[in-house]
Amino acid sequence: DQYDEQYRNQFHYSSNENWINDPNGLFYDSSTGLYNLYYQYNPKGNQWGNMSWGHAVSKDLINWTQEDVAIPMLQNQGREDFTYTNTTGSLKDKGEVRYVGVPTTNWGDADGKKAIFSGSIVVDTNNVSGLGKDAILAFYTADYQIATRKNDGAEDGWGTWIGLTEIQEQHLAYSLDGGKTFIQYSKDGNAANPQAIIPTSMNQGGDSANFRDPSVVYDAVNKQYYLTVVSGQQALIYKSSNLLDWTYASKIERENDVGNGVWECPSLVPMKVAGTNETKWVFCISVQQGAHATGSGMQYYVGNMTADGTWVPESSKTLQNPMTMDSGEDFYAGIPFSNMPDGRTVMLAWESNWSYTGEANTTPWYGNMTLPRELTLEQNADTTDGYLLANTVIKEIANNEEANVIDQKNSTFSISSTDQKVQYDGKQYKISATFSWDESNKPSSVGFKLRVSDDKEYDMLVGYDLTTGLFFVQRLNTGEPNMGAPRDKMNATVNADGSITITVYVDETSIEAFANNGEKSITQNFFMRPENIGDQATNGVYVYSDNGTTNISNLTINPIASIWN
Ligand code: FRU
Repeated sequence: DQYDEQYRNQFHYSSNENWINDPNGLFYDSSTGLYNLYYQYNPKGNQWGNMSWGHAVSKDLINWTQEDVAIPMLQNQGREDFTYTNTTGSLKDKGEVRYVGVPTTNWGDADGKKAIFSGSIVVDTNNVSGLGKDAILAFYTADYQIATRKNDGAEDGWGTWIGLTEIQEQHLAYSLDGGKTFIQYSKDGNAANPQAIIPTSMNQGGDSANFRDPSVVYDAVNKQYYLTVVSGQQALIYKSSNLLDWTYASKIERENDVGNGVWECPSLVPMKVAGTNETKWVFCISVQQGAHATGSGMQYYVGNMTADGTWVPESSKTLQNPMTMDSGEDFYAGIPFSNMPDGRTVMLAWESNWSYTGEANTTPWYGNMTLPRELTLEQNADTTDGYLLANTVIKEIANNEEANVIDQKNSTFSISSTDQKVQYDGKQYKISATFSWDESNKPSSVGFKLRVSDDKEYDMLVGYDLTTGLFFVQRLNTGEPNMGAPRDKMNATVNADGSITITVYVDETSIEAFANNGEKSITQNFFMRPENIGDQATNGVYVYSDNGTTNISNLTINPIASIWN
């Protein structure tokens, strides 16, 4: 496979074939010098299913090589028989319920299987688990269904048949070969049929069907590990000193948009406040419904950890006011890399959205990751708690940046109420410029027209609307039908005081746009299809200024080389 199919992004990771979603278990391995990227993967097709952990490695976080599946689905799991007190509405009946039967996955596969859902990795540098020095510990969710009977003694004594019930539990698997293969951990030593380390009975949230995505992190001050996992609309925090035995510590409850779908893929991230010595614990969360985006999007909250493992929001208003991680529609399930060699916080996300995965029609793969982002926690007077999580593309992207084709550093030109072609044609590049204006002849909107078609009918617009104060990416003009609001335009508030710097990474079906060096970002995929726009190139680049004069400084374009060569 040459990775040159129609719609294949050239500098974003995707699998050579088949479906991917969330990044999983991101970590740096100091013994090999490799960054490891695992992800939700269907080994059998380009739609969701058969979830396993796929794997890729990289020396620089940009150029990736795909490896074999690292954690395949659990097979031939035996009969299970246990009771559980159901407290929420996810089972048909509340009260004590007896499960009995053989696990099965929910896409019609044969019995005895458990899927491997999202999770995280920590390297056990001090061998606190006893699984081996530098053992690579993967915490993931086993997802399966099981026959459910109500414990009322009816029928054959097992109780009245209720139906199949979705079960999600937290498991551990570990690797002693640099993360290529994993051994299932089970307290009873039965790696073929492993027990959960955090079973349903430890789910304080009580939502057995939405208990997933464990994220493990070390608290160097309080000298303990935390495992954060979602349960419906809450995140539960467990603590441990040996990474094997976990006790429930506390929970974080959703206060905003409750009722609009579950939380997913949590992470607690200790971060230094830029320019200070103070550490905050940023709680990052993916929201299925009710975030800024149609469908799924990511939010964060700033807080602090106490010695007993409680995450305390920065203020009483924190949980009421979620902050948006990326204001586009295609930044989801992002988690940070663990064991970073340099203390940076680097996150990458799935560049897609659960509300329209079926519409992309890419073959033989589906999905790609965003570029890795370096996160910095900055003080910012405009936010509820006085902090803002800024994100920029990691500096290693320079490895693939070719020499400037446009280099107007330290020079400025002006355009008035017009657009102007930039003398470069291409589809894979980074473009950046600072737009400024005078109050006397203030434009209404400034920015870039990218991927402009030969007939100038179609484009992706990245700009700043001075009338509303909104930085935006608009894909209304890509020719896609049914592009209803808000899919047509995604916005982020930016207080541009006379100028704004806009930087955009453009790939075949991806735009990652940044305002003022990462103060706000908007990530969008888009599809310019011949069936909609005809058989023409979409390589044009323009700068524009509507209804007034814009001064454009430091305009640069660097083509970005494919990571597949
Ligand atoms: C998020 C998610 C996770 C789950 C995984 C399943 O996109 O729904 O909550 O573990 O995908 O593939």
